[in-house]
Amino acid sequence: MQRRISLIPQPRHLHADDGELDLASLGAIVAGDPETGSLAWLLSDLLARGTGLRLPVAEAFDGPAVRLRVDGARPADFTTAAEAYRLETSAGGIDLAAAHPAGIARGIATLRQLLPADALREAPSAAARVPHVAIEDEPRLRWRGVMLDVARHFQPKDFVLRMIDRAWMHRLNVVHLHLTDDQGWRLEVPSRPELTAVGSWRDETVVGHALDAAEFDGTPHGGFYTLGDVREIVAYARARHITVVPEINLPGHTRAVLAAYPELGAGPAEPVATTFGIFEEVLEPTEEALAFARDVFDVVAEVFDSPFVHIGGDEVPTTQWESSKTAKELMESEGIADVRGVQAWFTRNLTGHLTGLGRRVIGWDEILDGGEDRDGGSLEGGAPAEAVVSVWRNEAYVKKAAAAGHEVIVAPEPYVYFDHYEGDGPDEPLRIHGHTSTGKVAAWDPVPDGVEESSVLGAQCQLWSEYLPHYRDVEYAAFPRLAVFADVVWSGPGARRAAPVEERLEDHVARLEAMGVNYRPAAGPRPWQAGGEGRRKRFDRAFVEHEAE
Ligand code: ACM
Repeated sequence: MQRRISLIPQPRHLHADDGELDLASLGAIVAGDPETGSLAWLLSDLLARGTGLRLPVAEAFDGPAVRLRVDGARPADFTTAAEAYRLETSAGGIDLAAAHPAGIARGIATLRQLLPADALREAPSAAARVPHVAIEDEPRLRWRGVMLDVARHFQPKDFVLRMIDRAWMHRLNVVHLHLTDDQGWRLEVPSRPELTAVGSWRDETVVGHALDAAEFDGTPHGGFYTLGDVREIVAYARARHITVVPEINLPGHTRAVLAAYPELGAGPAEPVATTFGIFEEVLEPTEEALAFARDVFDVVAEVFDSPFVHIGGDEVPTTQWESSKTAKELMESEGIADVRGVQAWFTRNLTGHLTGLGRRVIGWDEILDGGEDRDGGSLEGGAPAEAVVSVWRNEAYVKKAAAAGHEVIVAPEPYVYFDHYEGDGPDEPLRIHGHTSTGKVAAWDPVPDGVEESSVLGAQCQLWSEYLPHYRDVEYAAFPRLAVFADVVWSGPGARRAAPVEERLEDHVARLEAMGVNYRPAAGPRPWQAGGEGRRKRFDRAFVEHEAE
């Protein structure tokens, strides 16, 4: 019986014909150059794993085959044209063509969804059959990301690789790693060994919600990625045309840095944080702090191939700078009238160094704040115009950033923070706050009214992990919302209206099942996913949206 065709994201143009192609009738995967060749081997391996069919890879083959072809003028990276592809399956074989190998990678992701869901299992479990279709596809947005917070709770490299696979399956193109925060530092930096010896672990973690903290678990938690791990993660992602964007969060959220190197702080050192929230500890604005940042970013630039590097910059309290003699002297010598300008000083210096390393800076939307000119007169933006702003507080900041000439990654807390509760039932497991249902994500428009689409580099969903200690918790928070997010940011509104995502999700869960993902069923948590009455018990706290400034 013909299966219904149900894809997430929905392609721009999808035409289905009667009939199915049995890939066992094909003789090879044909790839004419090394870039498509490596994608061909990946496809060959995936087919062999899930269906048992091993198609050889060949540069030429005379007969029915899977043909991967890159033709035409090559578009620049991070353009929608670079990820466009045409996919045709018929009795004569499979043709997958694109102007850039990234488009071939996206077409393979679609082809995998045309196979039976069981073909996504790790051992042969399904026939290698696909319906006859003709697809022409191109993403709506250039940047479609998911952020993993591996700082609050460390996640093993293995899980990062799995999430790269899942991003690929959903035709996302960025995995942003939030590598440093108050609760842990997760990147080996050979010239600064205390970062991992001291900063990568904490003695224990608060039990339940931090605002309801009655006890700590007494169990050390931590870990970090060696440079070998990072090279592997980056290469794994690169093979799938996914960019791993590293974030080193400065000059706030630095308790782990300062536990390792207390001399860099603007106040007394504290141990690596064991609870969650916003802490006062910040870097002192000194040449030593900049030298530290340069050492870290030099290593980042050596092991990450991303053209973008995220410098954090969110939630930086000025309390310590207000009583710091050094900060006061800097303000005098630099003509900074408002203490918030100290953060802008960091932003300018970090941007200068990363620009010299050939990278483009991204910061959270607070990098817009606090730029004041030398006369204390008109307020200029706190960040250089070339910096990309990832807007998290509120969509009003999208307008503010775009108006200041920045490209924007739209990542607002009320819509795409998947650490928020997904359901309002009492059995949902512990979350930070909020309520972001799949329906809310599905109805979201990532380009706010009044903002030019050209200012929007893209959009990103966030998996902050204060209350997601285990990878199974991250999966529950991510799925199926990440699939709906992918649909929103890839597919144009027209294509989405023609095939409501709620209907396609019903079929998509069979894929999540086959992959062993701990997704949240539409009806609510399964008994073992519920919060219960113990340390994962639901805790309600009103979510207050940030006011636009
Ligand atoms: C953030 O949620 N503080 C970026």
